[in-house]
Amino acid sequence: MSKENLIQGLNDDLAAELGTVIRYTYQAAKCYGLQGAELRELLVKEAQDELGHAAYLMDVIVDLGGEPTTTPKPFEKPADLKGMIALNVKMEAEDVTNYLAHAELAEQLKLPEIKMKLEEMAADEAGHGRELRRLLKGL
Ligand SMILES: [Fe+2]
Ligand SMILES: [Fe+2]
Repeated sequence: MSKENLIQGLNDDLAAELGTVIRYTYQAAKCYGLQGAELRELLVKEAQDELGHAAYLMDVIVDLGGEPTTTPKPFEKPADLKGMIALNVKMEAEDVTNYLAHAELAEQLKLPEIKMKLEEMAADEAGHGRELRRLLKGL
């Protein structure tokens, strides 16, 4: 496993984060009325977390000698609240898996700060997933 593998993995994570910032901001604008109010509030808050994750990944990629992507990963656009939340639950779970895999890579490369931060970000995404599942149960 090389540093280049890690840079590639972190760039994939970065594209996902940039996509999530846009997806959550977009979905927040599409949450209407009382039924959408709680999701809107959650998405606005979580978009800030995702922006923080993206900023961290950019710093690390630059520090490792890579070029951070500025291209967001494309995403689906479900029209209804249930579809939006289900999509987000699925994508948060994918982010957890990817961060844990890249944390292992960082450990192999003896980069403890990156390893620990990626695990922390995996935990953030797991928490996002739980909050979204709570909303899904209420629909
Ligand atoms: Fe994130
Ligand atoms: Fe998240």
